[in-house]
Amino acid sequence: MIFSPALNQLPSWDQLCSLSTSLGRGRISDLFKTDPDRTARFTFSDVGLTLDLSKQLLDPDILTTLCKLAEQSQLTEGIAQLFSAEQVNFTERRAVLHMASRFGASSAPLEQAQAMTNFSQMEAFANTFHAGMMRGASGHPLKYVVNLGIGGSDLGPRLVVQALTAGGKNPVARVYFVASVDPADLAEVLAELDAAQTLFIVSSKSFTTPETLSNAMAAKEWLVRELGVTPADTMKHFVGVTNDFSAASEFGIPETHIFSLPNSVGGRFSVWSSVGLPALLAIGVDRFREFLDGGREMDTHFSSAPFATNLPVLMALVALWNGQFLNIESLAVLPYSHALRGFPGYLQQLEMESNGKSVMHDGQALAWHTAQIVWGAAGTNGQHAFHQLFYQGTRRCCIDFIVPTNEGKTDAHRALVINARAQAQALMEGQTLEKSADILRKQGLSDKEVARLAPHSVARGNQPSSSLLFSSLTPKTLGALIALYEHKTFVLGWLWGINSFDQFGVELGKTMARSLQGTAHA
Ligand code: F6P
Repeated sequence: MIFSPALNQLPSWDQLCSLSTSLGRGRISDLFKTDPDRTARFTFSDVGLTLDLSKQLLDPDILTTLCKLAEQSQLTEGIAQLFSAEQVNFTERRAVLHMASRFGASSAPLEQAQAMTNFSQMEAFANTFHAGMMRGASGHPLKYVVNLGIGGSDLGPRLVVQALTAGGKNPVARVYFVASVDPADLAEVLAELDAAQTLFIVSSKSFTTPETLSNAMAAKEWLVRELGVTPADTMKHFVGVTNDFSAASEFGIPETHIFSLPNSVGGRFSVWSSVGLPALLAIGVDRFREFLDGGREMDTHFSSAPFATNLPVLMALVALWNGQFLNIESLAVLPYSHALRGFPGYLQQLEMESNGKSVMHDGQALAWHTAQIVWGAAGTNGQHAFHQLFYQGTRRCCIDFIVPTNEGKTDAHRALVINARAQAQALMEGQTLEKSADILRKQGLSDKEVARLAPHSVARGNQPSSSLLFSSLTPKTLGALIALYEHKTFVLGWLWGINSFDQFGVELGKTMARSLQGTAHA
């Protein structure tokens, strides 16, 4: 197992520090003036995605130096290690093989075989379910699905179902998601459902997460009340997705209804595995396969493309440049797509739970920043909520615009694309005091009024953004998009020298809750 050398000891680190000092005071819009081919030079495409970095505050020299930094970090070896059976999750002594779940390149035959077995079990289950051959305690066919899970056992399948059944696209099966321990979450869903026809998926890698177990118990009690059957009979309405078979069996779920989630698949990387079962039930086996295909094609791109045109590597290097060298703490992910409204929330776990760390692999405190604060919302909604801060606030923020460019032919579809482009342009250009004064003068205001009001219309501009463009949101595009950010997350963790695959920090909160629960009952 090898690790990247300390980031600030790499030959290109000091050069990037001095480049950021000089260019950091520059303006993105000036870079277009001096390079008419800038858009083409900073646009990269593969696997159906186009990444436009031209509105980032960097020039060809900086991008080349960032790629050199990646080479110097031994990233090529790091990527090979990720796809091998090495224990890349070195604190929990586990391999990291979510790529095997999408049958991606991997030199881990055992995990490959397990992934194939898991998928064929899911496929057989889905075919039985879709054929109405799965019967509940009262003999009725089960047709509604409620996924009970949280974090990685919720966000991934929830995103896939929301994205691929948006706009009224008919799901093959109607799937609901409950994550919160607040009884209101489950109650809202159950109020709409007929208990006799409802299947619950208890999705928990550990099968110890309190929120999920609380909801599973409440679901069982609901079935007993509604159907007038014994708790044991309700088990016809349950499926388990977990790494802990015995815990799921102890809950009462029959072994034939328990799907395995291998330890080598981390929760926030698990949508491709049996955690994706609710998505497979909602969109059907063929479209789920297409989803896996998209992720696998991104694996191939990531493990073979030169860094200078490698989409995950470029996104990671730009994030490093913005977060470390330009000291921009926040990344807003703005999908101009109602279907992708859940993507910012998904990325919060993927990026912040993976890279919200501050200790190197050798236990030393880090001498550099790690994960940015990731947030966002669908456009154009955000334009009427928080974009004001981008224009005239005191804080800098970098932005990922995610834009399906050909989702439909209506004026409304065109408005989404136009607004995404307009925002990227306006946030780059801003508005000068002279321009603000000129607008007011043309409205006939006196010089005194112009002088008083013009400063209030100035927009600083120079907010860096990337645009990720694709024609339309298909299962394959969605798979490629998610895998792109997974590999971006890995590259950043590699460069920072941290473990992107554990999450000891969150255990503290759980322990505190347990101790308070103890006193609460006292
Ligand atoms: O507490 C964080 C976490 O462990 C996530 O990493 C995970 O996705 C989530 O909780 C749910 O865990 P489980 O799938 O074991 O219920």
